[in-house]
Amino acid sequence: MTLSKPKIILDTDPGGDDSFAFLWLISLVQQGKADLVAVTSVDGNVSARLTFAGSCKLLQLCGCEAIEVGRGVIGGSASDQVEDAGEIHGTDGMGNLSHTLPDGVQEYESARSSDDLLIEKLKQFPEEITIVAIAPLTNLAAAEQKSPGILGLAKEIVIMGGAFQVPGNITSEAEFNIAYDPESAKLIFDRYTHLVVLPLDITRNLIFTDEMAQRVADTQAENAIAQFIVSLCKFMIGTAMAFRETAGISGFLVHDAATLAYLFYPETLMFRRAQVQIETQGEWTRGKTLFDDRHKTKGGANAWVAMQVDSINLLAVMVEDLKLLLAKS
Ligand code: BDR
Ligand code: CA
Repeated sequence: MTLSKPKIILDTDPGGDDSFAFLWLISLVQQGKADLVAVTSVDGNVSARLTFAGSCKLLQLCGCEAIEVGRGVIGGSASDQVEDAGEIHGTDGMGNLSHTLPDGVQEYESARSSDDLLIEKLKQFPEEITIVAIAPLTNLAAAEQKSPGILGLAKEIVIMGGAFQVPGNITSEAEFNIAYDPESAKLIFDRYTHLVVLPLDITRNLIFTDEMAQRVADTQAENAIAQFIVSLCKFMIGTAMAFRETAGISGFLVHDAATLAYLFYPETLMFRRAQVQIETQGEWTRGKTLFDDRHKTKGGANAWVAMQVDSINLLAVMVEDLKLLLAKS
């Protein structure tokens, strides 16, 4: 039996946990398990210019600089109420470590916009592309507004976002990726049904520790990727502890990595089919994700929502794949 290799567009706002997901994905690409068709960067954890630069640097670090990076619109989200997350991820989005990484070869000024890149690739490979969206959904909504129906050409849209039966992380009600641009999220959830959601309900269990980073790095301590992993992990643990995100455990949450677990290790997750809606109006609940998974005919269901995770095995396979990335670089 030949397994098909997923073609992936990574929509991202690096981001400490984005960076870990990014490196994990590149490992999977280098193992021949996925094709990374493009990276579409977006305003989110930090500004669009920085998430573009960070994406290019990560590709350069791994020798994948030929992969095109789209640029997000600066200040392009509908958010006027949610600040970026530089306090958690560092002012450069990468634990203030971006100066230690090689510069990318692509320039923000001459790059194509992320929405145009999404549109082109979805038309080029209809029903073949999986969009892995680990940031505010601004680029996806912009593509849809420019070219209505375009996201219907995606095989699947896998989203890290939302908080259903747990508190949010940006307000008590809302999770960052959705709350940063609720109108864009609403547009996607109102229009499409081929959505897979990895919410805080499960990602708050994904605590990546210093010991895990050391296990990755021990195999190749001098390797530049290993050093970045160890240093970024240390930085992210510092802010995660300050924001009390991990119940006192020394580690940080690798939220965005859950999307890759779904695609490559789905046995680590359990899902429910549900109707997900996005609150955009509430005075106190803007960006909240609502979830109806009652046992009734699911006419309005639009998403598979992860509700349980085997975090031990998910983190274990992530560590093993990161080791393979070092072995190949
Ligand atoms: C999400 O918000 C961002 O800060 C993280 O990178 C992740 O995508 C978690 O709520
Ligand atoms: Ca992110």
